[in-house]
Amino acid sequence: MDLKQLNAFITIATLQSFSAAASSTGLSQPSLSRLLKQLELELGVTLIDRYHRPLRLTDAGQFFYDKVRTLLTELETVTSMTQRLVAPRSALNIGFVPSVLYGLLPDIIATMKRHDPTIAVNLKDISSYQQIEALKRGDIDVGFSRFSHCDGWIQQILLRHERYMVALPKAHALAQTPDQRLLDLVNNRLILYHQTHLPAHIIHDSGSSITDKKANVTDIETEPLLNLFAQHGVTPLMTTKVSDLQVALGLIAAGEGITLVPASLQTVRTEQISYQNLVNDNVTSPIYLHTLKDVVHPRVPDLLAATYKVYEQRGMTYQRQRFV
Ligand code: BEZ
Repeated sequence: MDLKQLNAFITIATLQSFSAAASSTGLSQPSLSRLLKQLELELGVTLIDRYHRPLRLTDAGQFFYDKVRTLLTELETVTSMTQRLVAPRSALNIGFVPSVLYGLLPDIIATMKRHDPTIAVNLKDISSYQQIEALKRGDIDVGFSRFSHCDGWIQQILLRHERYMVALPKAHALAQTPDQRLLDLVNNRLILYHQTHLPAHIIHDSGSSITDKKANVTDIETEPLLNLFAQHGVTPLMTTKVSDLQVALGLIAAGEGITLVPASLQTVRTEQISYQNLVNDNVTSPIYLHTLKDVVHPRVPDLLAATYKVYEQRGMTYQRQRFV
């Protein structure tokens, strides 16, 4: 069994057609058919039902396809990481989710550059899950996001927990009320803006309200803001999902609802939006730094040092962590 046969099988199975696989790989249809036949003979298993149009995987073929695809993706990651080990390192490519840009990221980069003006940095706005794939591909060297990831290739450092605040339209009855409770907000339309949902392993036990049918149960478990309300035993009566944080703040400015945002957002659109503290415990959003385990850009420790320096200058609470 060799890589040529495996790649031929994966392409034929993905495109469900010999002719499409031939155009995609540049191999002739008879060559692809021969590679597939050799693989099936070696395995002693029929992988693809050739009598079905479009082509269909057999049950054994589906199992083999899922496993081999994962292995080939891993092989690509290993290949690209091995090449990066000897490639000269230039600019530090930083991926970030938009909410951290409103906070300390500009200050952290300025601090790092003050320490060493020769450091070149590229910034890429990229969602939390996409950061993990981008790290493996080598598109970014480090990612800042608000979600924990469990992946054998990735190491993560929890930088700190940032408090959520409630964002309300300036004309809202609660707009001037400091120290609010989640319970007081449930009759408002809650604007949901997270693109990334919580993975199953960090879902908290939220007690009886999880079975409340006012919102979709899966959403309550995995949507970050709904999960936060559920942890405090309450469920918002109405929700609206939007594509990102900027749209959410636009809707709030237009008086269409309320939301919770990390405290660093409280300087945005202040003519139209009022930001108030929440008194509930643990209403926070974590900030993580992610990087590969085995190939760390030499400037990443400088970036972490600059982050801690900014925290110290601002008297912020955090727990220093190290790379493995
Ligand atoms: C922070 O707000 O703690 C932060 C933001 C961006 C990068 C690192 C940390």
